[in-house]
Amino acid sequence: MPEINQNGAVKFLFTLAFLTATAVSLPSSPDRFLRSASTYLRLPDEPQEYEELRQPLPSDQLTPSCSHVLLRHSFANTINRPPFTTPYSPPSSCTSPPWSFVVLDLRAASSGDQYDRISGLWLGGVELLRTSTAEPSPSGIFWNVRKDVSRYSSLFMRSDLNVTMMLENIVNDVYTGIYHINVTLIFYEFNHIASNLKINNRLGFVESQRRDQTPADLIIPIGAGGNRGFWFMIENPTETYSKRIQIPSNTRQIVLELYVSFHGNDEFWYSNPPNSYIKTNNLATGRGNGAYREVFVKIDGRYVGSEVPFPVIFTGGINPLFWEPVVAIGAFNLPSYDMDLTPFLGLLLDGKSHEFAFGVNDGISYWLVDANLHLWLDHGSSNVEAGSRLYDSPSRHMERQEKFEQLDGSFRVEAEVISEYDGWVRSCKGNLTTMVKSMFKVDSLVRFEKNGTYKRVEQRVKTERIVEVTSESGKPVNRFVHQRTYPLTVITSTFRGLTKDTYMLVTNVSHALNETHSDGEASTQVYNRQDSEGWMEVEDHNVLAGEASTRQSLSYIDEFSCYSHTIDAANGEITQDSSSDSCTSSSSSELNTLNETLVLNK
Ligand SMILES: *[C@@H]1O[C@H](CO)[C@@H](O)[C@H](O)[C@H]1NC(C)=O
Ligand SMILES: *[C@@H]1O[C@H](CO)[C@@H](O)[C@H](O)[C@H]1NC(C)=O
Ligand SMILES: *[C@@H]1O[C@H](CO)[C@@H](O)[C@H](O)[C@H]1NC(C)=O
Ligand SMILES: *[C@@H]1O[C@H](CO)[C@@H](O)[C@H](O)[C@H]1NC(C)=O
Ligand SMILES: *[C@@H]1O[C@H](CO)[C@@H](O)[C@H](O)[C@H]1NC(C)=O
Ligand SMILES: *[C@@H]1O[C@H](CO)[C@@H](O)[C@H](O)[C@H]1NC(C)=O
Ligand SMILES: *[C@@H]1O[C@H](CO)[C@@H](O)[C@H](O)[C@H]1NC(C)=O
Repeated sequence: MPEINQNGAVKFLFTLAFLTATAVSLPSSPDRFLRSASTYLRLPDEPQEYEELRQPLPSDQLTPSCSHVLLRHSFANTINRPPFTTPYSPPSSCTSPPWSFVVLDLRAASSGDQYDRISGLWLGGVELLRTSTAEPSPSGIFWNVRKDVSRYSSLFMRSDLNVTMMLENIVNDVYTGIYHINVTLIFYEFNHIASNLKINNRLGFVESQRRDQTPADLIIPIGAGGNRGFWFMIENPTETYSKRIQIPSNTRQIVLELYVSFHGNDEFWYSNPPNSYIKTNNLATGRGNGAYREVFVKIDGRYVGSEVPFPVIFTGGINPLFWEPVVAIGAFNLPSYDMDLTPFLGLLLDGKSHEFAFGVNDGISYWLVDANLHLWLDHGSSNVEAGSRLYDSPSRHMERQEKFEQLDGSFRVEAEVISEYDGWVRSCKGNLTTMVKSMFKVDSLVRFEKNGTYKRVEQRVKTERIVEVTSESGKPVNRFVHQRTYPLTVITSTFRGLTKDTYMLVTNVSHALNETHSDGEASTQVYNRQDSEGWMEVEDHNVLAGEASTRQSLSYIDEFSCYSHTIDAANGEITQDSSSDSCTSSSSSELNTLNETLVLNK
């Protein structure tokens, strides 16, 4: 056993240099692991707080006008059981809707040994939050997730809905962690906000957050029946799941919000080698089909859009010691993906039901996918007219290269998908034409060296969505640009352990989510990045010992405000934490560059 002390890593890495990197039946990595009690150098006496670094919500410093408990439940041995369900009633103590902001507040606590678990929260079958849990420790952990759910406001006034939460967990002699969850909705009213803001002078920030569209009038979920959660479980690439939906005939705008998470043999899909490599080398792993995935949406069998999802790493993933107490980007609040389907209203407004279907290209077991349709209605009329221009399927360019000899080799996938749709809608707003352009580019590399014991994964994803609305005379009415880039690098070196049943993993992970949004007048940019490095000694899937550090920095800029936060964590403790909401000259020049880029793109 390596000696664990202040200099543990140094001593340990020194020892590693003398280990031979023979690959005899070493496991495939990255993988999912469980931290065991012996991992702790020093067990804290008190429960420890975990967190996901995020930008502040505009409402964070405001006084709520009321709060409303959605559910309180403990998820113990819930595997293979229906989700937890409880009736919903609108908050009685709140003044009348519409509310300016609604925030979902989830508080969780757990202690013992437990894997990370995936969870979905729905109201009337509409997904409000996709989250995952942190792996607890014997002395306990707790965390808080806050999400702006104002876009779901139309649901919160209804009294005919159930709240549903799915969190499948296993509790037995080995896995003892029960997840205790409280979920509350917090309502803020504009007058409250305005008076609060005079005090803290963050009106600009709140205004910039409010500018995003008013919430939809109606939200229709597209998902499964609900007795196993409202998500579809997609287990192979030939499967699609669908639901028939009739769109109200006075719909003037429609946006599909896609929720996605990936598990089992696709939890690390971005690092999967092709099947030829697995077969030639006689490997036992089910993690194949290469490293490219696309979640697609079809209406009546026609492709209408797809996404290459952001690679969220759950807290047991790659090296669990990286994600304590600061979890990976998106782990507590997975991103959802919006697709503006307004150009398709010409097909959808015929009074008939239409089939909305999801699938995952090359996907293997399993993906949890569902969506919400956000609909804006024309209140002045029961009939909106619409026409969709005939369109081609997307232009798609894809190149795969593979080169390997035994366990060493490299696999590259380059893909570019571009689609463009337009259609007109005649409603009380006039006859408006909406054009939606979307593009994504993926460059993925998986490389094995040293007889397969060194693995390097590099993925670069860039997505762009442009929505342009013009009047009948061709005058621009609105223009939204949304860009996301997410680079990811995962390096793992596997070594034989000091005893016959153990092995060592030395790992680096670096990833980021860079998001910019512009509505023509204003832009916002969020840049969130994490760099982790460390080693661990593993037996089966249990981490026996190790050391790890993570540095994260997040910056947010819009034309009114800036925010930055840097945090360093090492061996389970935060060693440095600083944040600022002052705009330095470099942050404003960054926004100017951003503004120019967005303007140039017009
Ligand atoms: C490479 O790994 C294979 C299978 O794990 C093993 O049979 C072979 O001896 C290794 N080769 C070297 C050079 O270590
Ligand atoms: C949930 O709420 C109850 C009642 O207020 C409280 O006792 C419990 O500690 C809360 N649990 C969490 C995880 O916050
Ligand atoms: C709410 O859940 C209960 C119990 O599962 C069920 O009987 C009822 O039909 C549900 N109501 C709605 C509106 O889905
Ligand atoms: C709306 O505008 C489009 C193009 O600008 C046109 O083709 C269509 O006929 C118009 N629809 C109506 C009902 O005027
Ligand atoms: C891992 O990251 C550290 C620090 O950034 C670096 O010194 C080291 O070379 C990296 N290891 C690999 C295998 O790239
Ligand atoms: C983030 O994305 C924007 C727009 O795509 C780009 O201009 C900027 O350089 C990116 N920032 C980083 C740090 O990669
Ligand atoms: C961004 O560009 C718009 C013009 O397209 C301009 O009105 C606005 O002031 C610019 N914002 C900043 C922060 O430079």
